[in-house]
Amino acid sequence: MRLKVLGRAKLKGDFFVPGDKSISHRALLLGAIAEGETIVGNCLVAEDVLSTAHCLQSLGVRIEGVGTENVKVYGVGGANFSKPDSNLDCGNSGTTMRLLMGLLAAHEFESWLIGDASLQKRPMDRVAIPLQKMGAKIEGRTERFLPPIRMHGAKLKPIEWALPIASAQAKSAILLAGLFVDGTTIVQEPALSRDHTERMLRAFGAKVVVRNLTVAVFGKARLRGTKLVVPNDPSSAAFFLCAAAAMTDAEVTALSISVNPTRIGYLDVLRHMGATVIIHNERTQAGEPVADVTVQGSKLNGVTVAGELIPRTIDELPVLAAIATVAEGTTIIKDAQELRVKESDRIAAIVSELRKLGAQVEELPDGMVIYGNSKLSGAEVESHGDHRIAMALAIAGLLAEGETIVNNANCVAISFPQFPKVLSSLGVEVEMT
Ligand code: S3P
Repeated sequence: MRLKVLGRAKLKGDFFVPGDKSISHRALLLGAIAEGETIVGNCLVAEDVLSTAHCLQSLGVRIEGVGTENVKVYGVGGANFSKPDSNLDCGNSGTTMRLLMGLLAAHEFESWLIGDASLQKRPMDRVAIPLQKMGAKIEGRTERFLPPIRMHGAKLKPIEWALPIASAQAKSAILLAGLFVDGTTIVQEPALSRDHTERMLRAFGAKVVVRNLTVAVFGKARLRGTKLVVPNDPSSAAFFLCAAAAMTDAEVTALSISVNPTRIGYLDVLRHMGATVIIHNERTQAGEPVADVTVQGSKLNGVTVAGELIPRTIDELPVLAAIATVAEGTTIIKDAQELRVKESDRIAAIVSELRKLGAQVEELPDGMVIYGNSKLSGAEVESHGDHRIAMALAIAGLLAEGETIVNNANCVAISFPQFPKVLSSLGVEVEMT
């Protein structure tokens, strides 16, 4: 599928995006190991979350409503998955693979985790090494533990682990394994990454203590099934909020998105760049802060995005780079080497594609320099098979003169199948061909 957008629209209006991807994965995974039933409302219906649901079904978990927003998970109550008959296909989803590895570490049977061409290039060592220390047997390709991954779980022992990188997936995998251990498992991270696992574990009745950058989970935990409604996804909303920020006279409002501080670093960046950001109607949903967020556009300034901001903006860096091309002055993104091991090498991908639109961008080993003030012109660009690159490029296309075509844009279905529809509802001419 090719996504065609016509540039120079002014975004206007209120919009909804679907349920949060990270929270939807976790609701299914925790529901699966809880005692009793878990009812998940507003669950994201997109390929990544379907990968998690199908893997859990292969592990013997009964789930009703897969492929709809209302899902019921019949928990198996502890490390009670059954040995799967076939490989567990995680598709494109790093979250599925890494979090499942945490759960499978406590299951004393062999299983194989596989993924698509992109996932097969992504390192699992950040999860495999601590889980091996806890007692699981894990094999992957090369010392980076590239998938396919062979898991053979064991009776685990607790560990105290300092993560070398801020990664919510790695943190979560260790915490999930820690649920099945006699004793306390402690994870420390170098900067705060998204904390949905910690919040949701509490909602399921586990004891989790957080002090600064250290999280302790107390095993053996007994999770109780619960009922939760997933907040809307701030990373999906980011495409429209960032686009509006870069257009004078534009104004859009994202309704009911998670405003968990670990997820909305991009709103801080937009403010620094000079946009007006208003967070209103704040409330709590599923243990997460939720609000409506309005962004009013203006002429933006270049900024530096680095350090502790990086884990809080990680998935939004491609779209921030896209809008920085038209800001006044230079934007520097650094300390973001993690972008190289996402669904694509997002540094190389965004730099090469933004150049096709006429942007001046320089690649750094851990980020990029975006020289602002570019007059972008519509062009044909490539998604690199990466959903967030595809959507970030469509937003860059909105800032360009003329028509932009994003090739191989089917991948938006990984996290946000309704992306073209929402874009069109805000006043953009969009076509899928
Ligand atoms: C996610 C964590 C982040 C993020 C990914 C989803 C999660 O990855 O980029 O899209 O749900 O835990 P890392 O943990 O690898 O930083």
